[in-house]
Amino acid sequence: MSQKVLNFGILGCGAIADFHAKAIGSLSNAKLVGAADNSPLRAEQFAEKYSVKKYESYEKMLSDESVDAVCICTPSGFHAQNAIDALNAGKHVVLEKPMALNSADIERVITATKENNRLLTVISQLRFSKDIKRVKELVEQNAFGKIVFCDLYMKYWRSVEYYASSDWKGTLKFDGGGALMNQGIHGVDLLLYLAGDAKVLCSKNKTAFHDIEVEDASVSMLEFKNGAMGVIEGSTCACPGFERKIEIIGTEGSVILRENKIEKLVIAGETLIDGITEELAGTANDPTAMSYELHALQLNNLIGAVNGEEELLIDCVEGSRAVKLIEEIYGR
Ligand SMILES: NC(=O)c1ccc[n+]([C@@H]2O[C@H](COP(=O)([O-])OP(=O)(O)OC[C@H]3O[C@@H](n4cnc5c(N)ncnc54)[C@H](O)[C@@H]3O)[C@@H](O)[C@H]2O)c1
Repeated sequence: MSQKVLNFGILGCGAIADFHAKAIGSLSNAKLVGAADNSPLRAEQFAEKYSVKKYESYEKMLSDESVDAVCICTPSGFHAQNAIDALNAGKHVVLEKPMALNSADIERVITATKENNRLLTVISQLRFSKDIKRVKELVEQNAFGKIVFCDLYMKYWRSVEYYASSDWKGTLKFDGGGALMNQGIHGVDLLLYLAGDAKVLCSKNKTAFHDIEVEDASVSMLEFKNGAMGVIEGSTCACPGFERKIEIIGTEGSVILRENKIEKLVIAGETLIDGITEELAGTANDPTAMSYELHALQLNNLIGAVNGEEELLIDCVEGSRAVKLIEEIYGR
């Protein structure tokens, strides 16, 4: 059955917007129609690059009836209000991570999706990668026996220039947090997705190196609903930057993920995977070292859900889980 083509607009024409534009361009059931930014120059350059319309303002984009859905790629502190405005204008929404900076704003966004009967997906593109899906299935099949430890390590590096070149990264108001709320939220989302809900037993957050308002080093001890214990370590001042590692360790088997690849897989005492042969793509020390293809898979899921053909995989509830745990880690 041929799907209705969804027309997209992009708000915020910075680094991640390129990935959205390329993802939309790769899908036969999606079309990028225009872009807006509070910097007219950025909007103009972006619109020119992708041969689409430049809107004078977000309001103009939202009042364009040809736009079905909006990708929100603005600094994190704007996400909740940008999403609510789009939903109130009758648009579906692709909302970059984090969904919002606090639970109160998450609730406002959820209310707006319900009141307007629109769909919103929070970007968590790594959930669409092959090995992550495989581990999810293995956990659901109880392939690891009783799970004892679920650990997440994200010792990343971001340079002084990385923070200095941005007017919002590292600020409390617009980034909402540091190594966890920004760079580490993908890992937190994956940990909760794979291992289930958890509560925070204790945490320590520090601004250890960078001249920023938020943490650049964090460590927490957790207890999962399934009884497992675990730790989360996150940093943006760990030179030279190390690949993200997730370990799910059980009584009958274990899995270790490095970035989005299974590095070690043992089931029923038998080693099925031992080592990674291909080169790993990851953002441990380069925020742009990723591909648009996983974004495309997530957008495709939204389009399928809008067309009533599949379930929306990362809705508001799923998209809010990592933010809520990080809030707990921050003690907010
Ligand atoms: N999913 C991922 O892997 C991933 C990767 C990078 C960034 N992100 C997220 O994407 C968002 C944007 O990050 P980025 O690195 O592209 O930032 P950026 O600074 O490169 O771009 C932000 C853009 O938004 C514009 N902008 C700022 N305030 C605005 C407003 N009020 N209205 C309209 N436009 C506004 C800026 O002019 C700029 O063009 C962040 O929330 C970040 O967490 C996600």
